[in-house]
Amino acid sequence: MKILVANGPNLNLLGIREPAVYGSETLQAIQSMINEFAAEQSIEITHFQSNVEGELVNAIGAAKADVDGIVINPAAFTHTSVALRDAIVACGLPVVEVHISNTHQREGFRHTSLTAPVCVGQIMGFGGYGYILALQALIKRVKQKT
Ligand code: DQA
Repeated sequence: MKILVANGPNLNLLGIREPAVYGSETLQAIQSMINEFAAEQSIEITHFQSNVEGELVNAIGAAKADVDGIVINPAAFTHTSVALRDAIVACGLPVVEVHISNTHQREGFRHTSLTAPVCVGQIMGFGGYGYILALQALIKRVKQKT
């Protein structure tokens, strides 16, 4: 099984970015934790991060031919991007949305996700560990379908 883990804008700054909201864990540390978990589960992970909306759209489009599912933290694009939502629908893969913070505890504009309704589900508020929870849920879903 192959899974794409995609991260959106400013998540490359985890560790130094608003630590009171996102904690002190870097994206590299989260990716290492994911890789360890993936090795235990015997699954393959491709990591992708971009600050550019179109690059994320392209990565989701390319994933269709390459992976069995996607874990995505669309970051700020969660709340704005019809293009990302359409890419998720178009790829036809099971997608799990993850957020490090609990966006419902934050500003009103973060309470709406344009992408969550076209995902299998959403996990938020558990910091970097949310990616592991998202992977567990996605692996189960992919196995059910095969
Ligand atoms: C985020 C939440 C978004 O509202 C924000 O724009 C981010 C990170 C999270 O993981 O908590 O960049 O997706």
